[in-house]
Amino acid sequence: MQRTLLITGASRGIGLAMVRAAAGRGDRVIACVRDPGSAADLAAAARGAAPGAIAIRAADVTDPASLAAAALAEQGAIDVVVCNAGVYRARGGIEAPGYTADAWAETMMTNVAGVFFTVRAFLPHLERAPNPKIAIISSVMASSAKAPGGSYIYRASKAAATNLARNLATDLGPRGIAVGAYHPGWVRTDMGGTGAELDAATSAAGLLARFETLDLDTTGVFEDYRGTPIPY
Ligand SMILES: NC(=O)c1ccc[n+]([C@@H]2O[C@H](COP(=O)([O-])OP(=O)(O)OC[C@H]3O[C@@H](n4cnc5c(N)ncnc54)[C@H](OP(=O)(O)O)[C@@H]3O)[C@@H](O)[C@H]2O)c1
Repeated sequence: MQRTLLITGASRGIGLAMVRAAAGRGDRVIACVRDPGSAADLAAAARGAAPGAIAIRAADVTDPASLAAAALAEQGAIDVVVCNAGVYRARGGIEAPGYTADAWAETMMTNVAGVFFTVRAFLPHLERAPNPKIAIISSVMASSAKAPGGSYIYRASKAAATNLARNLATDLGPRGIAVGAYHPGWVRTDMGGTGAELDAATSAAGLLARFETLDLDTTGVFEDYRGTPIPY
């Protein structure tokens, strides 16, 4: 049966790789990007896919109005909402200069509030699906059990995204919606850098396979793209 996936941050990196992989296996994908006009690789993927397989929508996850407009454009059910959009602004120890108020605000709005706004905007579409799921792309850097220090804003934002996944799993379980948090691996993208371990296609294939196993029995899971559990 053909599924419909909605993926945020689909212009490049892991988001674009998930769009390609899902469309390639015959699913329909609603690919959300901040600026469709500059998402050339996504446009090329849509041209190369089956007609109608990839619908490109404008949506900035920090802007509930843009998500509401994208939601209005969509009439049918959505089986999986993938909250993938993310930023990683500042690195280093506590005295590194990048930990500005703007960096904190942008990261928390994108990586945390953006997840919340995305889920809320597409809840009616999820509730029309037979086995609806929400996949939140977090990171192993969210894990408070590991906590090696540094990258304070990103770690805090991804820990909060995982916390959202757990609380949404509690609230949305009775409404039939399963929620998982995922680490995509260390992936060669603009964010992961050229020295990362994995190509985006491998990460995307693993993530889509993990979403298949997500249901009301496994809801609240936090695991990597191979299914290895990650401690909170
Ligand atoms: N790469 C890794 O090794 C790694 C590891 C762990 C977790 N992750 C997580 O995996 C996800 C994807 O990462 P990536 O490596 O593919 O990153 P990336 O190459 O930097 O791509 C980030 C994507 O997020 C989008 N985005 C940023 N802010 C947005 C906003 N306000 N609204 C909508 N879209 C927005 C970007 O869109 P624009 O093109 O418009 O900027 C882009 O499509 C992120 O959540 C990241 O934290 C990545």
